[in-house]
Amino acid sequence: MITLALAKGRTAKDTIELLEKASITFPNFHAKSRKLVFYNESKTIKLIFVKAVDVTTYVEKGAADIGIVGKDNLLEAQADIYELLDLKIGKCKFAVASLENDALKQASTLTVASKYPTVARNFFKRKGIAIEAIKLNGSVELAPLIGMADVIVDIVETGTTLKENGLAVIEDIEEISTRVVVNKASFATKTQSIQQIINQLKAILE
Ligand code: PRP
Repeated sequence: MITLALAKGRTAKDTIELLEKASITFPNFHAKSRKLVFYNESKTIKLIFVKAVDVTTYVEKGAADIGIVGKDNLLEAQADIYELLDLKIGKCKFAVASLENDALKQASTLTVASKYPTVARNFFKRKGIAIEAIKLNGSVELAPLIGMADVIVDIVETGTTLKENGLAVIEDIEEISTRVVVNKASFATKTQSIQQIINQLKAILE
């Protein structure tokens, strides 16, 4: 039995569709269901739905053998797991944004609000800029508007949220998409089953 942890939310539907194309199907799955556990027909794969930020924890701890999660969460979590495949869905980017026409301030310490403080710290460290990171759990775009932060580091998909709040991208950080990750011990002990799932997914991506 392989346990597959899937991030709930935006990309779940696309991911399930991709799995179905790869002949990995969960007959009892319905998009509107509140159930968190599903099985494939042969009961060889157990699908569990977890919060996107928790997928890496399930995989690193071995509670799930495989995880499907955004690169944003991988970069933030820095978990000791293998990243094996880019599913090329859930595409967006990490960017630094601030109030429109507001260039990067020359303040001694830049205040950066983000759901991804590790990503923010690493990005500004590479640039040699000292920051104070403020961890928020959502509505990050508010922070510069109310003067709590100079800039934000956040995900930009369509750019609508930034635009509607009078913010603009100052600098792109990194492209993001949905990735397949694997627990290291599982990859050693369940190599064949895991590789088969990876190969089925690879085949439909090509
Ligand atoms: C994400 C992200 C941005 C927005 C980007 O937030 O943090 O706020 O989506 O999408 P866009 O460029 O298409 O507007 P989410 O919707 O997950 O809500 P949150 O603020 O509650 O985290």
